[in-house]
Order: sequence, then C-alpha cells, then structure tokens
Amino acid sequence: MSKELHVNIPVMDEKHDEFLEILSKIQSCEKSDFLPLFAQMIKHTKEHFAFEEELMNKHGFYAKGEHFDEHKTLLGEMEYFYEKAQKHPMFGKSYINDYALDKFTRHIINIDSQLAMFFKEKKIEF
Ligand SMILES: [Fe+2]
Ligand SMILES: [Fe+2]
Repeated sequence: MSKELHVNIPVMDEKHDEFLEILSKIQSCEKSDFLPLFAQMIKHTKEHFAFEEELMNKHGFYAKGEHFDEHKTLLGEMEYFYEKAQKHPMFGKSYINDYALDKFTRHIINIDSQLAMFFKEKKIEF
C-alpha cells in the first residue's frame, strides 16, 4: 500500500495492506476466480472490522458509534454487490473496479486515521 495511506499503527496497516492485496487480485483475476476472491475479501473485511471494534471497545474510543456504523455500511454494500454478482457479474465488476478502492481509501483517511490518532495520543502500545 502507498505509504501515505498508512496510519502508522502497524496492526491496523497490516489489515489494510492485506485488503488492498486481495482487491488488486480480484481486479485482475480470471472469471472463475472472481466470486471466490470476492468472498475472501468479505471474510477478510469482517475480521478486519471486528478487530478494530474490539480495540475500540477495549480502549473506550470516544467516536466508536460513528466508526461502527461506517463499518456496517461498508460491509453491507460489499455483501449487497456480492449477492448481485451471483446473477449479474457486471454489478460485482463495477463495484470492484470503480468503487471499492475509493470507499476503502476514504474510510482509512477519514475514520481509521482518527482512531490511530487516539491510540497515539493515549500512548497505547500494541
Ligand atoms: Fe481499518
Ligand atoms: Fe475502520
């Protein structure tokens, strides 16, 4: 992942890098790999979000309500397009190629970076 997307909390950056790796695989995969990789991306995202949510609960992050909501929305969209893609592959393709990266990048810049700042200010070590 490009360094400017890193929030400099390694346990978070690791998840984000893994996501981007899966996404770039889907963008250039064979047709037959599209849905399995899409499913893998959803599974990874569930784990990634659950991990952050656990940290927010544990450390009493002040803006966790907003962050949890945003996770729910992002995951809901991903699942919606995955479902659609079963019958209409183009829906899935356009989500993956034109939308997913932008959505993800915005989440890191606007939401995850706020969480990372909180951890740094509180001097929480991982
Ligand atoms: Fe994240
Ligand atoms: Fe997040």
